[in-house]
Amino acid sequence: MIIPVVLAGGSGTRLWPLSRELYPKQLMALVGDRTMLQSTLERLSGVNDMGAPIVICNGNHRFMVAEQLRLSGITPRSIMLEPVGRNTAPAIAVAALTAVADHSNPILLVLPADHFIVGIPRFHDALNAGQRHADEGALVTFGVAPTTPETGYGYIKKGDPVSAGQDHSPETEGAARIEAFVEKPDAETARAYLRSGRYFWNSGMFMFRAADILDEMRQQVPEIVAACEQALSSGCRDLDFFRLDADAFARCPSDSIDYAVMEKTDRGVMVPLDAGWNDLGSWEALWHTGEKDKSANVISGDVVVHDVSDSYLRSTSRLLAAVGLSGHVVVETPDAVLICPRNRTQDLKLIVDTLKAGS
Ligand code: GDD
Ligand code: MG
Repeated sequence: MIIPVVLAGGSGTRLWPLSRELYPKQLMALVGDRTMLQSTLERLSGVNDMGAPIVICNGNHRFMVAEQLRLSGITPRSIMLEPVGRNTAPAIAVAALTAVADHSNPILLVLPADHFIVGIPRFHDALNAGQRHADEGALVTFGVAPTTPETGYGYIKKGDPVSAGQDHSPETEGAARIEAFVEKPDAETARAYLRSGRYFWNSGMFMFRAADILDEMRQQVPEIVAACEQALSSGCRDLDFFRLDADAFARCPSDSIDYAVMEKTDRGVMVPLDAGWNDLGSWEALWHTGEKDKSANVISGDVVVHDVSDSYLRSTSRLLAAVGLSGHVVVETPDAVLICPRNRTQDLKLIVDTLKAGS
C-alpha cells in the first residue's frame, strides 16, 4: 500500500503579502477554486493502491486543514500537528515512524502542498514507476527537465539507467541512479548545470518504504529520528488530531530532507516527470502558470490597467489601478502592498526576514 504524506507546514514567505504565517499559501486557492492542499490530494484520485493520507501541518492550522479535507471528501489516516516548523526532514521522520507503527512497511509518497501539475495521466505513470523502484528499496525522487537556472530548487545529476519490476526497461521508463544531488545551488552553478544537459530539477516529491527512509535517516541524521520518536511517544491525541510533544519537537534540529538525506544517500533513484510540473513558490511562478490576457498580464480581483504588460496584478480588498508597467508584480491586501519587478520575487524572503526581525 502507498500512504500519501502531505507536507503542509511551510510558511510560503515568497508569496508575501498574501501568504502569512496564520494563513499560508498551501491553504489558499491560488489557481482555480481548490486550495493547494485539496489539489495535492485530489490529483491522486485513480492511482492504484493509494491509502488514506497522513497530513503534517502546524498546530495553528488544524481546523482549516481538517475542513478542507472534509470538503474534498477525504478522510485522513491522521493529521499530525507540529508545535513549531522544523522543516521537512523531521516531518517525514514523524510520518515514517507513524506508518511503521501502524502497518508492516508501507510505501510513503511524500507530497509538498505547493505544486501545480497539468498532465495528471503522466503524473500517475511516474508514480507507478516510482512505486516499483521504492518496492526494491530505492529512495525515489521525481526529476523535471529544467528550463531555467532556478536557484530555489534541488538539482539531480542523472546517473546510470536502472530498471525495477518485470517487463519495464529503463529505456521506456527513463529511471536512473542519482549520481549527485545538489540542493539550491548558486546562480552560476545552476547555469552550468543547465548547459550540461545532465541535470534535472528535484520536484520535491519522494517515494520510499517507510523503513528504508528511517534506516537512512538513522544513519545520516540520528538526532532528528530520536527527537521525533520522543515527540511521538510524549505526544497525545486531541480530537481527530495528533499533537507532537512541544518540548521534544522543539529540541529537534531543523533540516530539509534534501540536505539531510538526498544529498548524502547512495540509494537515490530518479524517475523522470514530464507532466507540466510547477512549484507555485513565487509570484513569478504564478504569473507563468496563470491565464494571461492579450498583454500577457495575469489579473485577479478588482484591477484596472492601462498600458501594462507581462505583469501579475492581484487585488483582494480595494480597487487596484496601474499605468505603464511592464514585467511587474503588484499584490494588494488589506494591510500590505507589494510592488516588485517580476524577476526579483525570489528576494521577498529577505523582506519577510526583515519584517520578522522587527516584530
Ligand atoms: N509539515 C511541515 N513542516 N511541512 C513543511 C515544513 C515544516 O516545517 N517546511 C516546509 N514544509 C512543506 C511546505 O509547505 C511545502 O509543501 C514542502 O514542505 C516543501 O517545502 P518548501 O519550503 O516549499 O521547499 P522548497 O520549495 O524551498 O524546496 C523543495 O522543493 C523544491 C521543488 O518545489 C526541495 O525539495 C527542492 O529540492 C525542490 O526542488
Ligand atoms: Mg516549495
